[in-house]
Amino acid sequence: MALDPSNKKATLTFSDGSPALDLPIHAGTIGPDVIDIRQLYGKTARFTYDPGFLSTAACDSSITYIDGDKGELLYRGYPIEQLATQCDYLETCYLLLYGELPSSEQKRQFDRTVTYHTMVNEQMQFFLRGFRRDAHPMAVMTGLVGAMSAFYPDSMNLNDPQQREISAHRLIAKMPTLVAMAYKYTVGQPYVYPRNDLSYAANFMRMMFATPCEEYKVNDVLVRAMDRIFILHADHEQNASTSTVRLCASSGTNPFAAIAAGVACLWGPAHGGANEAALGMLHQIQREGGVAKIGEFIASVKDKNSEVRLMGFGHRVYKNYDPRAKLMRETCHEVLQELGLQDDPLFKLAMALEKIALEDEYFVSRKLYPNVDYYSGIVQKAIGVPVQLFTAIFALARTVGWIAQLNEMIADPEYKIGRPRQLYVGEKRRDVTPIASRGVKHEKRAAERV
Ligand code: SDX
Repeated sequence: MALDPSNKKATLTFSDGSPALDLPIHAGTIGPDVIDIRQLYGKTARFTYDPGFLSTAACDSSITYIDGDKGELLYRGYPIEQLATQCDYLETCYLLLYGELPSSEQKRQFDRTVTYHTMVNEQMQFFLRGFRRDAHPMAVMTGLVGAMSAFYPDSMNLNDPQQREISAHRLIAKMPTLVAMAYKYTVGQPYVYPRNDLSYAANFMRMMFATPCEEYKVNDVLVRAMDRIFILHADHEQNASTSTVRLCASSGTNPFAAIAAGVACLWGPAHGGANEAALGMLHQIQREGGVAKIGEFIASVKDKNSEVRLMGFGHRVYKNYDPRAKLMRETCHEVLQELGLQDDPLFKLAMALEKIALEDEYFVSRKLYPNVDYYSGIVQKAIGVPVQLFTAIFALARTVGWIAQLNEMIADPEYKIGRPRQLYVGEKRRDVTPIASRGVKHEKRAAERV
């Protein structure tokens, strides 16, 4: 990163009389400045302390910008609202990977490249047989994506830009095929091969829902909705799974292994698993009485001892409405209208819960607004996607973001293997004692650590 010519600095002083230290401040194009602490340990033998990285910029990046207070999301400077309504997912992939929107000829070539990589090696289907039929699709996807590193020896070297580009095309192209295979395996239906005459999202829908018994009819409204789900989930700055991919790739491992690490991280309910959890929450409220039960549920959320969270609400960065949630809510209306489900009780419940939460001081004071996951589950359920597959579709969409962020890190001549330090609060140095003399002390201490 080029040092900021403004020479702004922060001066760190110590109450114990240690010498003060000037730290350079760098400004980005937009957004918060950063205090460059790279020389801190070398000059003060002290670390910074920031578990959860609430105040830490792990890198500089030109891919995605989020303004949490304004509720703004830009991919390469373009507002998500414009991309989601004027572009398709592969156009967005091109933008994230190469930094500019494609010309029509560039898009034609990129679409063709991706289309002609959508098949997977026939051997991949035998991995699935090792799973139980009721395996969670994210367990299957973590395995399948990692297994891709056993099939493409010509695109494993992260430090070769051409190999990075080939693996990027393969991953973007094959994720829909693998997700559809993971789904078909759980429902005991035959796998459906990709078709080269269909768009990316239409191909995915057909691989998911077609059967050999009849021709699959593409529904343009549902395809558009799926394509928008892909766009809205494509990238999101240094979120947990993207940071996982960057840290994993910083060891020089292959791109498939790094993306598999991202898949595993995304699975968590605090992250990509939230849409599955949000739908589970709505189903639970519905079972317990629907809209009439919202007050009781909200009360349980406010009760710290309940550990109940309003899934699909809140965000580490957005302290305003997640712009993706607004777009997803519109898509919800379009899909339910198309399917004649305008009176879908779950959607009505979601709208009622959102309204009540947005007026409740507990959520307002904590700036807890609906995030992208709140409505994406309802859209996917209406389209016919099983709840357990929601996060796999999120992983499909986020693959391009993970790759773009990985490529940006690897292409940075200053990048090093990520290796954070710690504040050690364990035992001082001590000696092993003979086992006969150890007794209860150790057992009690072990229990304390559970
Ligand atoms: C995604 O990082 C990304 O960009 C992620 C993502 C992406 O595209 O990659 O945007 C995708 O992961 C969206 C987030 C999906 N997760 C959920 O919807 C799960 C529910 N949300 C929360 O678990 C929570 O809001 C987080 C994890 C999303 C953010 O948590 P933070 O920033 O660590 O905030 P926090 O847990 O410290 O909460 C602050 C306060 C706490 O109350 P107090 O201790 O101050 O009294 O808000 C409360 C929390 O208890 N709180 C909630 C809540 N979220 C936070 N209370 C009830 N319900 C919630 N959902």
